[in-house]
Amino acid sequence: MDKLKIRGGRRLVGEVRISGAKNAALPILAASLLTAGDLVLHNVPELADVRTMLRLLEGMGVRVERSGSDVTLNASNVTSTVAPYELVKTMRASILTLCPLAARFGSATVSLPGGCAIGARPVDQHIKGLRKLGAEVEVEHGYVQARAGRLKGARIVTDMVTVTGTENLLMAAVLAEGRTVIENAAREPEVVDLARCLNAMGAKITGIGTPTLVVDGVESLQGAEYSVVPDRIEAGSFLCAAAATRGDVLVTHCVPSDMEAMLAKLREMGAELEIGADWIRLRQKDRPKPVQIRTAPHPAFPTDMQAQFMAVCTLAVGTSLITETIFENRFMHVPELQRLGARIDIDGHTAAVRGVERLTGADVMATDLRASASLVIAALAAQGESTVDRLYHLDRGYERMAEKLRGLGADLERVHD
Ligand code: EPZ
Repeated sequence: MDKLKIRGGRRLVGEVRISGAKNAALPILAASLLTAGDLVLHNVPELADVRTMLRLLEGMGVRVERSGSDVTLNASNVTSTVAPYELVKTMRASILTLCPLAARFGSATVSLPGGCAIGARPVDQHIKGLRKLGAEVEVEHGYVQARAGRLKGARIVTDMVTVTGTENLLMAAVLAEGRTVIENAAREPEVVDLARCLNAMGAKITGIGTPTLVVDGVESLQGAEYSVVPDRIEAGSFLCAAAATRGDVLVTHCVPSDMEAMLAKLREMGAELEIGADWIRLRQKDRPKPVQIRTAPHPAFPTDMQAQFMAVCTLAVGTSLITETIFENRFMHVPELQRLGARIDIDGHTAAVRGVERLTGADVMATDLRASASLVIAALAAQGESTVDRLYHLDRGYERMAEKLRGLGADLERVHD
């Protein structure tokens, strides 16, 4: 198992290029199931989760050609509509094959993802929505089994804002007969990106980026060429690393307009920001100022940045309050940050983070993807050496992070156990 050895205490300085967004790439890859034509994708990040999705699709008979960040998929010869437990248990986003399979082939057997480290994460909204579109859906033997003729457009109001739920239902609605209206839809940039890709394939979706998505179903979709949106969470993570080390970092190939809530918090923390069309430069001169953060669906502050901001807050001059409203168990980085010297008290869904002047290096363990980024950020700022164990969590969602950090002057290396 790989670990990251980090000798902290160095300011990060320089320029870093952001990769394509994992959480946009995964639904877009699943969308290849909706057409017999070639889906030619660019800016697909090279990540463990992307490899899992490609393996899943290949297992269904989808032809995949990959060269770096370019991926071409062809689903003209699908031989199986089953997403097996072995793959789904390693990546919940496999559930995103449910609706495309049901919509195009009238049949899908997708393993139920099961629990997750950060929360229970049910998929009831995906199932309810698909039933509303006319599919028969049962959960048997741990699998969601959907059977359908051509799906029929309907009005769907989800009980809560769900990102992959909205994405799955969009992929069902594009091939349904008639109009579907999805109310309370997620507005995350990754949902927007999927909707734009579907429209490039011939879908008729309007209201993109609003809570009401209107889909006029078409009989079939065609192939298309599409470039995945840059990863706002990767960009935000590098900005946090710069802020925690009081560095000066230029983040390029990003979409600042997708990151307003986080940029506002970085400004409140005392960071100097210069922002261009597709770049952000952050300079942090003094210790950060404390802030209050409350996670909520986009455009509010993203839960996927909560852990990384907490790492910065551990070094603030004063007490920050961080409230997690999306997932019930997303503070697992707290005991590990405490090992680095952070002072954090948790009361229900709120963490009070009393800033300290310095963190000190220690051995810590990553528990999930964003928690691991948080530990890396804290370790980069800490005095002395740290080891971040269970690096496979980081590899799921950050492309070549160690290499990119080294390019900014960080002193770190991967070690093989
Ligand atoms: C997506 O997960 C992301 N994953 C997550 O990123 C992200 O944290 C999350 O959205 C919130 O932004 C992908 O895009 C692949 P939800 P998702 O459905 O879609 C409840 C990362 O680190 N809910 O928006 O699974 C759910 O339990 C990951 O990259 C139901 O109750 O999240 C949660 O409390 C982690 N029933 C809330 O809604 C449902 O049917 C929002 O979850 C669906 C969701």
